[in-house]
Amino acid sequence: MSITLRPLRPEDAQEIFNLHTRAILEVCAAHYSPDVITAWVSGRTPEGYLRNQSRGENFHVAANASGTPIGFCGWHGNELCGLYVNPDYHGQGVGSLLLKTAESAAAAAGTPLTQLESTLTAQSFYEKHGYETISRGSRLRSGLEIPHINMRKR
Ligand SMILES: CC(C)(COP(=O)(O)OP(=O)(O)OC[C@H]1O[C@@H](n2cnc3c(N)ncnc32)[C@H](O)[C@@H]1OP(=O)(O)O)[C@@H](O)C(=O)NCCC(=O)NCCS
Repeated sequence: MSITLRPLRPEDAQEIFNLHTRAILEVCAAHYSPDVITAWVSGRTPEGYLRNQSRGENFHVAANASGTPIGFCGWHGNELCGLYVNPDYHGQGVGSLLLKTAESAAAAAGTPLTQLESTLTAQSFYEKHGYETISRGSRLRSGLEIPHINMRKR
C-alpha cells in the first residue's frame, strides 16, 4: 500500500473529522458505553483541527495513493494529542508509521514525545511502541467522564 505523510492542510479537515468519528463509533465503541460514545463524538467540528494547529499542535496526515486522508497524528510539545486511522485501513501499519514519524519529528525539534492519554482501545498498541501505563484518568465531555489511560515513554 502506498502511503504518504504530509502536514495537515485546510482541505483535509472534513475527511480527518470523518475518519476520526468513524474510528470512535466503529472501533472505540467496543470499550466504552453507548452514552459515553455519544458524548465523545458530540460538539466536535472539522474546524477544530485547524484551530488546534494554529495554537501550536503539529499534525501529520497519512494519505492513500489517491491523496485521500486515511489517518492523522497530532502532537504538541512532548505530548501525543491524537492518533486515529480510518477503520478500513486498520492493522496495515498506518498508525505505527504515523506514531514513529511523529516521534522522530518531535525528537528532531528537541522535545521528544514522552506522554499521551490513550483510549482504552489503543493501550496495547502503545505498549507495543514502548509506552507504559502510569494511571487511569478521564476527561469531561458533554457532561460525561470519558476514561483514558495515562501512558509514558522513558
Ligand atoms: C490505534 C490505531 C491508531 C492503530 O492504527 P493501525 O494502523 O491499526 O495500527 P498498525 O497497523 O500500525 O499496528 C497495529 C498493531 O497494534 C496492535 N494493536 C493493538 N491494539 C490495537 C487496536 N485497538 N487496533 C489496531 N491495532 C492494535 C495490533 O495487534 C498490531 O500489532 P502487530 O503489528 O504486531 O500485528 C487505530 O487502530 C485506531 O485508530 N484505533 C481507534 C482509535 C484510537 O483508539 N486511537 C488512539 C487514540 S489515543
